[in-house]
Amino acid sequence: MDAIRGLMDFIDASPTAFHAVENICAALADAGWQRLEERETWQIAPGGRYYFTRNRSSVIAFRVPEAGFAHFQITASHSDSPCFKLKPGAARDAQGCAVLNVEPYGGMLMATWLDRPLSVAGRLVVSGKDGLETRLANVDRNLALIPNVPIHFNRDANKGVEWNPQVDLLPVVGAEGADILAAAAESAGAKKEDVAGSDLFLYNRDRATLWGNENEFLAAPRLDDLECAYAGLQALLEARPSKHIDMLCVFDNEEVGSGTKQGADSSLLAEALRRIALALGAAGQALEAAVAGSFMLSADNAHAVHPNHPEKYDEDNRVRMNGGVVVKFNAQQKYTSDGVSAAVFERLCERAGVPTQRFANRSDVPGGSTLGNIANSHASMNTVDIGLAQLSMHSAMECAGVKDVDAMIRAMRAFHEAEIDVRADGIIALD
Ligand code: CO
Repeated sequence: MDAIRGLMDFIDASPTAFHAVENICAALADAGWQRLEERETWQIAPGGRYYFTRNRSSVIAFRVPEAGFAHFQITASHSDSPCFKLKPGAARDAQGCAVLNVEPYGGMLMATWLDRPLSVAGRLVVSGKDGLETRLANVDRNLALIPNVPIHFNRDANKGVEWNPQVDLLPVVGAEGADILAAAAESAGAKKEDVAGSDLFLYNRDRATLWGNENEFLAAPRLDDLECAYAGLQALLEARPSKHIDMLCVFDNEEVGSGTKQGADSSLLAEALRRIALALGAAGQALEAAVAGSFMLSADNAHAVHPNHPEKYDEDNRVRMNGGVVVKFNAQQKYTSDGVSAAVFERLCERAGVPTQRFANRSDVPGGSTLGNIANSHASMNTVDIGLAQLSMHSAMECAGVKDVDAMIRAMRAFHEAEIDVRADGIIALD
């Protein structure tokens, strides 16, 4: 139960990607890992453990072996989740209330955000003595709510509603004149007049909770993809040191296409690999040879079969909650898994006693995409797409199996502790 409790605490403390990354950094620092800055020249010692952030919303951590430079074994996940972002001109009075002007971030199930307590969190840019600094903000109380239109004024409301985010989804945040920026500044220990910039988001105030006849399930906001980010962190912290370089990547902006300076579709991972190689004195083709021998787990949650709608899922490739780690396949290569990468991963899981299950979409459903194939376009290596089965993906409150996060931690730990030795193209030894 440690794993599920740890996950619930992590989600509750991580209303935005900035908070998730801060909490990952705090856990690494507590365990003695050393912070690096991209802005500085890196000094990396054999046996050392390091991490750095970009935009404070993506984080990479890595541990180098006691001797030499070797290939990389990487877990990747994402720190962001669908939500609403405050526009620059955010507050307006309307009909005796103050409303916030927000726009969707990512593709959420919009209806799930209505009629529930929400609040505002993110980061503020604050002016100080030496210029500007960023600070986390979280108005840690029930601050906002997006009210539904009563059924009396829309008798077709139960036949499907089309939501216009410019009109229908603006949250009420109090009586006229409610000053949300002042509340956010206060939560960051700053004065409103010192706030020079902001990236603020709405978040669901619900806490993670267990439910079901025997507490088989977990309901929580942001399970996609904080569940895999948390599992990657725990696995890295728990894994025995190895002969290769173990790495954790948690990227921001997966839900909006990854195309930012800190997203998977950026230089972030490739530059990290190159800088580590250079700092360890690897010369010539050593980096390219190491990347060719590297392996990545692209971990993002998967769709559990919906008991009321099994027809939405391919009948031979469905997965269920509490059924273990999901390996995802897609012929269009939205998922990176292929015969080789899936076989390596499933073999490692089998040896560790971790159950796995296989997922593919119906052929007449396009399905989603994730970050593995995007990261591979910048740093190409054997990669397998995995995840944990969940219901209600992209709802304000998602649902997963209570046993699965422990399965993912054990799978990722076994992955880090194994030596995946690519002897030649298509020939892989597992120690
Ligand atoms: Co995801």
